[in-house]
Amino acid sequence: MTHDTWPAHVIRRTFMDFFIARGHTEVPSAPLVPKGDPTLLFTSAGMVQFKDLYLHPKNLAYTRATSVQKCLRAGDLESVGKTLRHHTFFEMLGNFSFGDYFKREAIEWAWEFVIQKLHLPPEKLSVSVFEDDDEAYGIWNREIGIPASKIVRLGRKDNFWGPGGKTGICGPCSEIYYDSGPERGCGRPECAPGCDCDRYIEFWNLVFPQFFLDEKGVYQPLEKPGIDTGLGLERLAMILQGVEDNFHTDLFHPIVEALLDMMPEGFRITPEERMGINMVADHARALTFTISEGIYPSNEGRGYLLRRLLRRALTRFYSYGITEPFLYRLVDVVVDTMKIDYPELEGRRHDTATIVRGEEESFFRTLED
Ligand code: SER
Repeated sequence: MTHDTWPAHVIRRTFMDFFIARGHTEVPSAPLVPKGDPTLLFTSAGMVQFKDLYLHPKNLAYTRATSVQKCLRAGDLESVGKTLRHHTFFEMLGNFSFGDYFKREAIEWAWEFVIQKLHLPPEKLSVSVFEDDDEAYGIWNREIGIPASKIVRLGRKDNFWGPGGKTGICGPCSEIYYDSGPERGCGRPECAPGCDCDRYIEFWNLVFPQFFLDEKGVYQPLEKPGIDTGLGLERLAMILQGVEDNFHTDLFHPIVEALLDMMPEGFRITPEERMGINMVADHARALTFTISEGIYPSNEGRGYLLRRLLRRALTRFYSYGITEPFLYRLVDVVVDTMKIDYPELEGRRHDTATIVRGEEESFFRTLED
């Protein structure tokens, strides 16, 4: 393990400092429940809190921003634990332009950051562009010098981002991938960036927002295009810390260790069981952050997602022979792992654990019946 060289909190700070030095304003993470945005249950990307700034880029207090955003996505729920890189709760590092700079600067700075700040080996990197985006292709190829063999053109599914809800900001995008080695791949001859396997890790998405998709399904051009990038902290930590997957990074390691300690004596951890442990580690983070923000398990809306997460975790561990509340004990571990950059978790530690425990007790009773 090399958690010491690039602990997550150093990655967060290094990213924001890089963009502050390039004229960006540091903006704190917005809450997980977006304010005044009925199109989304949860904040699912860094750009969510900036939506209006893309729409009305006039008289803004700042036209460049950088943030580390807490995100929650339910769309990948079934993949969590099955792949080594999907999460419900995750953090997104981002730099944003509201009618200010566009593709050239976004691409140049992203490359400068990964090569000169992070020292990632260029031979392990490749990029994708939207199928007909010759401008982005040209910047990568001619200005940055990425060989054509390392640039793939992908379609709408992979390289057109958004909107986050039914309506909103969207546009073509360009992604940066890290090749984690053929031994992690599916082995198919056509395996390349964009493949669903764990080999090519898409860690940074550079979106070029140019449209607002309205209620009628019409793509309205924005008055001025902008930039919205999202760099997945957990994936980047995995790459920089040289560990086998996101669940071995310092963001997850203490949580996974606590779960391993809870396993009944003689319990054999097969790869299948390890996936279950990863899933529970993921859900423990999501529950701790959401409940700390005052969202509680219930039978509808946001609360229903929480209840589902909790029940998925409990059902899985019940099948491992754990029949007593255990998740509430992870709240402490999550708070201790994350409080350096989320000090607000501390004050809610006790209440969050109490709510989780109450839910657990009632669900275990149901399981026993
Ligand atoms: N909005 C884009 C994403 O979520 C980039 O931040 O990937």
